[in-house]
Amino acid sequence: MKILITGGAGFIGFHLSKKLIDAGDEVIIYDALLNFIDPGKSLHDKYLKIRLNYLKDKTTIIRGDIRHKVCLFRVLKEHEPEVVVHLAALPIATVSNKFSEDAISINLNGTMNVLELIRLCDSVKKFVYASSSMVYGNFEKPTANENHPTNPLGVYGATKLSGEILTKVYGKQYGISYTIIRPSAVYGPTDSNRRVSQIFVENGLLKKPLILHNGGSSKLDFSFVEDVADGFLLAIKSKKAENEIFNITRGEARSLKEFVDILKKYIPNIQIRCEQADFKRPERGTLDITKARKLLNYNPKYSLEEGLKIYVDFVRKHITNQ
Ligand SMILES: NC(=O)c1ccc[n+]([C@@H]2O[C@H](COP(=O)([O-])OP(=O)(O)OC[C@H]3O[C@@H](n4cnc5c(N)ncnc54)[C@H](O)[C@@H]3O)[C@@H](O)[C@H]2O)c1
Repeated sequence: MKILITGGAGFIGFHLSKKLIDAGDEVIIYDALLNFIDPGKSLHDKYLKIRLNYLKDKTTIIRGDIRHKVCLFRVLKEHEPEVVVHLAALPIATVSNKFSEDAISINLNGTMNVLELIRLCDSVKKFVYASSSMVYGNFEKPTANENHPTNPLGVYGATKLSGEILTKVYGKQYGISYTIIRPSAVYGPTDSNRRVSQIFVENGLLKKPLILHNGGSSKLDFSFVEDVADGFLLAIKSKKAENEIFNITRGEARSLKEFVDILKKYIPNIQIRCEQADFKRPERGTLDITKARKLLNYNPKYSLEEGLKIYVDFVRKHITNQ
């Protein structure tokens, strides 16, 4: 299959591209190569180089912005992909809340551009949209399936949910087959967006303290990137994914305290500082992945213990070489 991935040079896009290449698919990456993290704190350039070095001879990489319709349209017309996977986004909740106009311009208007253009391209038979479990907001129960009410708490979740609605509307109006994926707390090699997993692993290795708020009781469904990429791959390939929404996660919430306890096994002498939080985090828990298991045969392989070991080994290797 010929597959165009917006945001394909990013963290999830890189791991998905690798899997598609291994499966014999042709991958076209359309990516603006943007970084939303303070450059002083970011390993973005280093990790981007690792990704691009691997991908450059095995895929077609086009530097382009989803907000530039003419550029994207030219690429779609030239390459005629059968599937478009839409990962390009401002993917960080805190940054999206702070720079809400950027989030709306990329996540909402950008998504509309992609949909608007693929409906004009006969080659595209399927659209896969990367949403987020942040569309749920506070969980009403410890476990949320895809029918859980969607009440996002911030701009990021709101833009992701708006993208879902647009995806469904375009799907219905123009007969574009779609699949919506809701990942959560993805971690693993080459993540550069300084989410909690990256900060904890890096601080641990750099002998900086890890700050645990409220005893680390917040829970997240930490999902290893290989599993999430497998979920996307299955959604691309499976007929049963058509016009469906899937939670694609590990399917097991773990507290930040548990995360740190596992980390202690791989990084000795971690310093922990406990603080009271002066902010409120969304109350979240486990994402129910029964539907993905049943319809897609999705079967995440990496427990947090296994995934973190691989991730720590990767960061250890690269952080010491800085
Ligand atoms: N990583 C997670 O924990 C997580 C969880 C839920 C959902 N998601 C979603 O998955 C997708 C991928 O996330 P990621 O973690 O790989 O992020 P990432 O930042 O590593 O990758 C996103 C890519 O999109 C590109 N991009 C950003 N704006 C663009 C634009 N205007 N035009 C073209 N390209 C642009 C960036 O250059 C980057 O390569 C996002 O849509 C995100 O919202 C991620």
